[in-house]
Amino acid sequence: MKYKYSNDQKSLNKCDVHLIGVFTDKKLSCIEGVFSREILDNIKRIIKTCNFTGKNGDHRTIDDFQIKKQILLFGLGEKKKYGPLVIKKTILQIFKKLIQTNLSSVSINVDNLISSGNNEVTLEMIISSIENSKYTYKFKDEKNQLKIKTVSILSKKKISSKRFSEILKSSLAISSGISLAKELGNTPPNICTPTFLASSIKKLKSKYKSLKVKIIDEPEMKRLGMGAFLSVSKGSKQPGKIVIMEHMPIKSQEPIVIVGKGITFDTGGISLKPSPNMDEMKYDMSGAGSVIGVMKACVEMNLKKNVVGVITSAENMPGSQASRPGDVVQTMSGLKVEILNTDAEGRLVLCDAITYAKKYKPKYLIDVATLTGACLVGLGKYPSGLFSNNQTLANKIKSSGDKTGDRVWQLPLYDDYFDELKTNFADIQNIGGRYGGAITAAAFLAKFTQDIKWAHLDIAGTAWEVGPGKGSTGRPVDLLIDFIRSN
Ligand code: BES
Ligand code: MN
Ligand code: ZN
Repeated sequence: MKYKYSNDQKSLNKCDVHLIGVFTDKKLSCIEGVFSREILDNIKRIIKTCNFTGKNGDHRTIDDFQIKKQILLFGLGEKKKYGPLVIKKTILQIFKKLIQTNLSSVSINVDNLISSGNNEVTLEMIISSIENSKYTYKFKDEKNQLKIKTVSILSKKKISSKRFSEILKSSLAISSGISLAKELGNTPPNICTPTFLASSIKKLKSKYKSLKVKIIDEPEMKRLGMGAFLSVSKGSKQPGKIVIMEHMPIKSQEPIVIVGKGITFDTGGISLKPSPNMDEMKYDMSGAGSVIGVMKACVEMNLKKNVVGVITSAENMPGSQASRPGDVVQTMSGLKVEILNTDAEGRLVLCDAITYAKKYKPKYLIDVATLTGACLVGLGKYPSGLFSNNQTLANKIKSSGDKTGDRVWQLPLYDDYFDELKTNFADIQNIGGRYGGAITAAAFLAKFTQDIKWAHLDIAGTAWEVGPGKGSTGRPVDLLIDFIRSN
């Protein structure tokens, strides 16, 4: 798809359909600068007669005989509820609709969409949302692909062509990161193994020379003393891998380190999960998928920030080699862990990766994991759970979440939760009591972070969509990229 930016209605001559977002107040004053008075009045008149409401999801195609164009109106809902989520959702809806047509060029008026705030951020969000609407899992055939070749962005606001090409570049980088995260999440677990994740990272490395990659295999983990990680991967024939991606364009700058849980299938191990919906446990590598997506975006947009991505990947299987409830293992940090439930494996692969990541002296360390069903129960599917040992960091993540519509909700880490992890057989046990499971899981991780500024995102509820449109959401790639760029 090609994108153009223009300030006048001449570009309309070349498009098949022109898109205009309209709020429920049906005011069109925002787009006045681009269209002539005459045309605007005409559109207003048509809006009145076609009982278009401007509500989210409402759209109407009208023929404007004056400009000899089809105009597609789409509802933006109430102005006071407008924000990044509405932008993303409506753009996606509209472009998914356009997939069913044969149109090859559209123009979109963005002045109503960019009503306030930072114009360039919104413009970037619009473009990356349009790009995201193209994503389908590769199993689908060509028929379901978007046929649109050119998108003209129409606005009365002037930006230089240099600036536009920069915005375009970062928008495309973000959406390609999101697509990659989705693709990895959707790939079936017999294909998407730890080795597969490692080789997709190798592919990235060969495309982007600036990316440095290090793969830690099981023999090296043994040497490093990563007993917690190995206790998970030893139940599977698939060898576990920790992969580190370095994007360090700046000399002597402490990196932001992001660590993703990459359990390519979580059966629960000996503490076996019930069968219904177990297929969903292929998404248990979504944290890793999002970290890989973020790294792709960073190198693709040539971001001038030091970022290190770590994925900690294994398959959690039962079997004669698998860990038992009651096993005690030693982590790389030296702490001994009593494994009381082999299904609480995410924290086991994460704790060793976090200890390893400390050698980068991270400015911030953020781990991303489909860690607990309890988070899904507590917060539902809309925000990711946020936990941190540093409130300033938590606030920054929260604000990136709000800015991108990739929302988070913070939960507490009181000392009481840590008490639940006490055991007389080791330094710490891998599960807490019956309640607050998302928090005791986070508390377990916090034990391994000590003085680094750390945050944990539990994406169990947000990483995938259920139902007929089931699949990976690509979250929280958007949030993380915004966080990295603004810190
Ligand atoms: N991968 C699961 C968490 C999960 C559950 C993610 C549902 C998405 C949807 C994790 O490894 C797990 O099994 N957690 C257990 C922890 C428990 C044994 C303390 C859980 O949440 O039940
Ligand atoms: Mn599990
Ligand atoms: Zn898991």
